[in-house]
Amino acid sequence: MTNNMFFIANWKMFGDFKSVNSIKKVIKFSKSKKFSKAQIIYCPPYTLISNFIKLVKNSKIKIGAQNCHHSQNPGPFTGSINVDLIKSIGAKYVIIGHSENRRMGESNKLINHKIKSALKSGLKVIFCIGETLEEKRKKVTKKVLNNQLKLGLNKIKNTKNILIAYEPIWSIGSGLIPKSNELLETIHFIKKKIKKCKVLYGGSVNPKNINELKSIRNIDGYLIGGASQDPKKFIDIIKKTYI
Ligand code: PGA
Repeated sequence: MTNNMFFIANWKMFGDFKSVNSIKKVIKFSKSKKFSKAQIIYCPPYTLISNFIKLVKNSKIKIGAQNCHHSQNPGPFTGSINVDLIKSIGAKYVIIGHSENRRMGESNKLINHKIKSALKSGLKVIFCIGETLEEKRKKVTKKVLNNQLKLGLNKIKNTKNILIAYEPIWSIGSGLIPKSNELLETIHFIKKKIKKCKVLYGGSVNPKNINELKSIRNIDGYLIGGASQDPKKFIDIIKKTYI
């Protein structure tokens, strides 16, 4: 484990105007010297981004979006938000390639366009990859990940502004996490393929399994869904990572 660990809160389509205030506890916590190395990033729904940005103004917490349109140029794309709109509001990150969007038809090619567009606009990318349960059972995890990495990062030479989040699809929201030795091996595999990239783990990270997860030394942080909506649980995960 490195000291500079990432803790990325993915609120998905949860939270409302009032729930934004729940992060005040996390903002206070983020100022404690003991946990100063924790890189905390909140990715709320688009409509709450500006509220989050106002709240975290005097803290080190950064804000990201959960997706973006592939076109950096403005255009007739009703209901879409592109990287420049995200950037202009003050967000620094964007999640791209989450399995919940891949499931709705997002292809590796489209993901590649989105990543390029985000990097061009100066946003940092949280690039999600992961296998289904069926693929795991068929023992084709590495093949699937290799394909997602190859196509998603096609013609992208500089990966320094990309964080890769390995999220096994069967682990998201299920309470299940991979066996430690398997996770260690998979993270190692990704790091070998994409040099100099931070690799995070995501999928059912919670205060109960964080001790097991933190023992896997090559993980650079966590993408946290459900547990990140509860500030107590989110803080607990960060605390336990360092203690
Ligand atoms: P989870 O979600 O922590 O609720 O499993 C993680 C994610 O989908 O990013």
